[in-house]
Amino acid sequence: MNTVNILAEKKILLGVTGGIAVYKAVELCSKLVQARANVQVLMTRSAQKFVQPLTFGAMSGRPPITDLWQLYQGDKIGHVTLAHEADLFIIAPLTAHTLARLAQGMADGPITATALSTRAPLLIAPAMESNMWEHPATQANLQLLVGRGATVVGPEAGRLASGKIGRGRMTEPAVIQEHARMVLGRTGPLSGLRITITSGGTREWVDPVRFMGNRASGKMGVALARMARDQGAQVNLIYGAMSVEPPLGVNLVEAIRAEDMLRATLDLLPDTDILISAAAIADFRPVTTHGSKLKKESGRGIQLERTPDVLKAVAEQRAKLGMPKLVVGFAAETSDLITNATRKLESKSLEMIVLNDITAADAGFGVDTNRVTILTRDGAAETLPLMDKEEVAFNILHRIRGLLGAQSIGWSPGIGSVISS
Ligand SMILES: Cc1cc2nc3c(=O)[nH]c(=O)nc-3n(C[C@H](O)[C@H](O)[C@H](O)COP(=O)(O)O)c2cc1C
Repeated sequence: MNTVNILAEKKILLGVTGGIAVYKAVELCSKLVQARANVQVLMTRSAQKFVQPLTFGAMSGRPPITDLWQLYQGDKIGHVTLAHEADLFIIAPLTAHTLARLAQGMADGPITATALSTRAPLLIAPAMESNMWEHPATQANLQLLVGRGATVVGPEAGRLASGKIGRGRMTEPAVIQEHARMVLGRTGPLSGLRITITSGGTREWVDPVRFMGNRASGKMGVALARMARDQGAQVNLIYGAMSVEPPLGVNLVEAIRAEDMLRATLDLLPDTDILISAAAIADFRPVTTHGSKLKKESGRGIQLERTPDVLKAVAEQRAKLGMPKLVVGFAAETSDLITNATRKLESKSLEMIVLNDITAADAGFGVDTNRVTILTRDGAAETLPLMDKEEVAFNILHRIRGLLGAQSIGWSPGIGSVISS
């Protein structure tokens, strides 16, 4: 089993209660199953008025549990077994009614009884009319659950089933799924580490309309941020121009010019254990940024100057601060790949450099896959096969963990290994 996907093989209980948003729980169930989670649906009687158990059964491959007594199988008390084995309990949608029963510690149905019996983290997505949501009783019940460690997602503001505009819509299934990844990852192998990642491409302004940029999409940096988050790290994502959305649950810092990247990176350095510089930072910028749009005739011969060297400045600061513990760079090269990357590894005092061959159509800028060679200080060069950027990110983080464990010296896993368990 490939462990890149944190949801794979996880035992997830999905409690579905009786609100209009039950139809969205069908999509959530489908997404979790597609992510290869083992999903067991539990439904209240009211939930079954909105959607037949059959729909969830077909989706999850297991009949939903609709009655507490249905779980009793002679030798095993079903809800206790389920509760003990679960990795995560999601309740979506969560009605005001079941919220109140959970807050009171009642155990009168499969969802409430299992919630009391489990020690798995509880992720709830309330959904109801805005007046129900805002009612002091609902808010007090919610605070009780939060105080006991539940993670609450939503509800969102927008158009409600009644036609009214207000807060009460269930959060979209894709977002709940991201939160599930985060909750599952909290105690992961990178928990307690602060990782700062730079991502995307910089833009250097010629005038108010034009800029010098590059082809970086931010996909690699975003994949790293997401994977690090999924493994419990506290992540800062310093991002320039990107064509992808940054992940949820990370601290975002926008930095468009090389100068901004430098400032943001140095500011975060004292609180960074690991820095991964995946952004494509411009080496040159126009000497002058014109205040008004340049005319055609004056565009000839724009003068360029060097931008600040972020990794060099990091190396200098690091010598004073003793932080970060580890710095990883990226090299996008078109020729003399290993020689150029090795030179950068040494000159910037990096522990690791990830080399992209950007001449390949299926690797590097803009695409979802990458083919990289990972070089470390001990002279090891490991080429990974073509893989999804999240898989590349997972492999990089795995090797970072190895370097931290080996105190930056001499750690080298086998050539081209894909991590699995
Ligand atoms: C058409 C209809 C829609 C409802 N939608 C919601 C809702 O979105 N949220 C909610 O908290 N209750 C909603 N209710 C009320 C619940 O169904 C009711 O409180 C029920 O007792 C909840 O039971 P359960 O929490 O055991 O599923 C709705 C009721 C009806 C008839």
